[in-house]
Amino acid sequence: MPKPVVILGVFVADTAYRAERPPRMGETILGNSFALGPGGKGSNQAVAAARAGAETHFVSRLGRDPFADMALATWAEAGVHPAVTQVDDGYTGAAYIFIEEATGNNAIIICPGVAGDIAPADLDAHADLIRGAGVFMTQLEQPLDAARHGLRMAREAGVTTILNPAPAADLPEGMLALCDYATPNESETEALTGMAVTGPDDAAHAAAALRDLGVGTAIVTLGENGVFFDDGARSAHLPALSAGPVVETTGAGDAFNGGFAAALAEGMDPLDAVRFGNATAAISVTRPGTAPSMPSRAEIDALLAAG
Ligand code: RIB
Repeated sequence: MPKPVVILGVFVADTAYRAERPPRMGETILGNSFALGPGGKGSNQAVAAARAGAETHFVSRLGRDPFADMALATWAEAGVHPAVTQVDDGYTGAAYIFIEEATGNNAIIICPGVAGDIAPADLDAHADLIRGAGVFMTQLEQPLDAARHGLRMAREAGVTTILNPAPAADLPEGMLALCDYATPNESETEALTGMAVTGPDDAAHAAAALRDLGVGTAIVTLGENGVFFDDGARSAHLPALSAGPVVETTGAGDAFNGGFAAALAEGMDPLDAVRFGNATAAISVTRPGTAPSMPSRAEIDALLAAG
C-alpha cells in the first residue's frame, strides 16, 4: 500500500481570459472568451496526484466565501483530502490568467488571499500527516518560511521531498539542500542558478548547478521540449509526449508535478516517474483550465501504453 502524498500550497480561483494579445497599459481590448475555475499551483498538483491514483492530502488556508466553496467541491470531486484551516478575516485568492489565443500560452498574476498567511504553525498542525507521508511536495505561492518548514519536517522524518520552485523566488540559504527533487521550469532554473536555459543542452549544465546548490535530483521542465533529469548517477533528456492538439498550457507544470509525485509515492523508478509526469502533462494541455484538465489514472496509463 503506497504511503500518501502530502502537498502544501495555495488554492485560488482562476479567471482566464483568452485574447489575441495582452492589453498594453492604459488600453482596453476585447477578448475572445472567459472562464472561471479552480486553480492555484498546490491545489492543481493535489488534484493531479489524486486523479493519478495517490492518496493525497492538501495543507492550506481558505476564507469562507464562494471561492472557498469552489475549492472544497473541487477536492471532493477529485478525492483530495483537505488539511485546511478556514478563516473568517480574509478572502480566498484569485488569479488573472491571460491566454494567448494562437498558442495557448499564458501569463498570470496571482493574489493568494488568506493563503498568503500560511505559516509554519499550519504545518505543525498536521505534523503526523506530513511525517507519515511517502512524498511531501510544495511550491512557492505561500510564504517561504512555511515551505521551508514543511520540507525540513518531512526530510527529518525520512519523507521524500519535492520543491516546485514556482513562482521564482530568492531562496534562503540551505533550502535547496532540503529537497530530494527540485522541478523548476526554464525561467525558475535561471533565477536559481543564474544560467539561461533555452533547451536540453543548457538544462544539463543548469541541472548540475542545481545539484551543486544541494538539490538531490534536478528535474528541469522545458515545456514542449520535455524534461531534463540529473540525479548525479544518471542524466537524461526525456522528450515531451503528445496526446493531441494543445488547447491550453496553463497548469501543465502542475500536472507534471502531481503525476510525478503520485508515481514516486507508488515506488516507481524516478525516471519512470518522470515519464508518468510527462504523460499527465501531455493530456492536461489538450483541455482547457488547470485543475479540471487533470487526467485520470486510466487515461495516463493508456497514453504510456500507446507510446
Ligand atoms: O500553474 C498554474 C496556476 O498558477 C494557475 O492555476 C494559477 O492559479 C497560478 O497559481
